[in-house]
Amino acid sequence: MKTILYISCSARQYHPDQSEHISISRELGEVFLKEFKSGYGQLEVIHRDLSVQPPSFITTDFLAATFSDDVSEEQQKVLAESDALIQEVVDADVIVISSPMYNYGMPAVLKAWFDQVIRIGKTFTFDLARGDKPLEPILSGKQLVLLASWGEFNFKKGDPLYSMNHLTSHIEQLCPYLGAEQFFEIASEYQEFGDERHVQSKAQAFDEAKALARKLAGNE
Ligand SMILES: Cc1cc2nc3c(=O)[nH]c(=O)nc-3n(C[C@H](O)[C@H](O)[C@H](O)COP(=O)(O)O)c2cc1C
Repeated sequence: MKTILYISCSARQYHPDQSEHISISRELGEVFLKEFKSGYGQLEVIHRDLSVQPPSFITTDFLAATFSDDVSEEQQKVLAESDALIQEVVDADVIVISSPMYNYGMPAVLKAWFDQVIRIGKTFTFDLARGDKPLEPILSGKQLVLLASWGEFNFKKGDPLYSMNHLTSHIEQLCPYLGAEQFFEIASEYQEFGDERHVQSKAQAFDEAKALARKLAGNE
């Protein structure tokens, strides 16, 4: 039995029957999950659609509660949303994030989700006795798959303009705090050009998503 936590966050909804621009990152997510499901019998998928149900922004009360040694009943309520989101991360073997690039980084709703789930004492510990590297992840053994789409191009890892891509680099940097020891990036590029390069890039991303799903499902 495997559990996938599927996080989607494009402001565009998924309408398979629509001919106008539907969310490419969501399409990639659908394809990945379908392929994974067909290759892996006992699978549970927890789907969090952050654009439908945006996580709360963290507040002063939230921070006070996270750093409290003696959490009050009131503070437990403040932490309830974070607790529920963290539990989904804890339960997951594979975390799949389908995300657009907005302003060269992640959508605000996705950043809000990370701020809710990366929490002291829950997903990392902090100890100055460790010297200049006081943070240590708590969770381990997971895989994280980023299925992304952006309008420009040459942003993938290893490409000439990767330094402009703060979506992939940011998520990869956060992986340890979700317990993800392996990180995979698949991206469709050129959406804003809508030309043959986009058609090819999208088709390649779909092929790569299917191949990775088969691999992670243990079928290749
Ligand atoms: C608000 C907004 C900001 C965007 N910023 C960028 C950007 O900085 N770089 C880029 O290459 N594409 C950018 N795009 C284009 C999207 O990344 C592209 O349309 C992508 O396909 C969106 O993902 P989706 O199809 O899953 O919704 C932006 C689009 C929107 C709506």
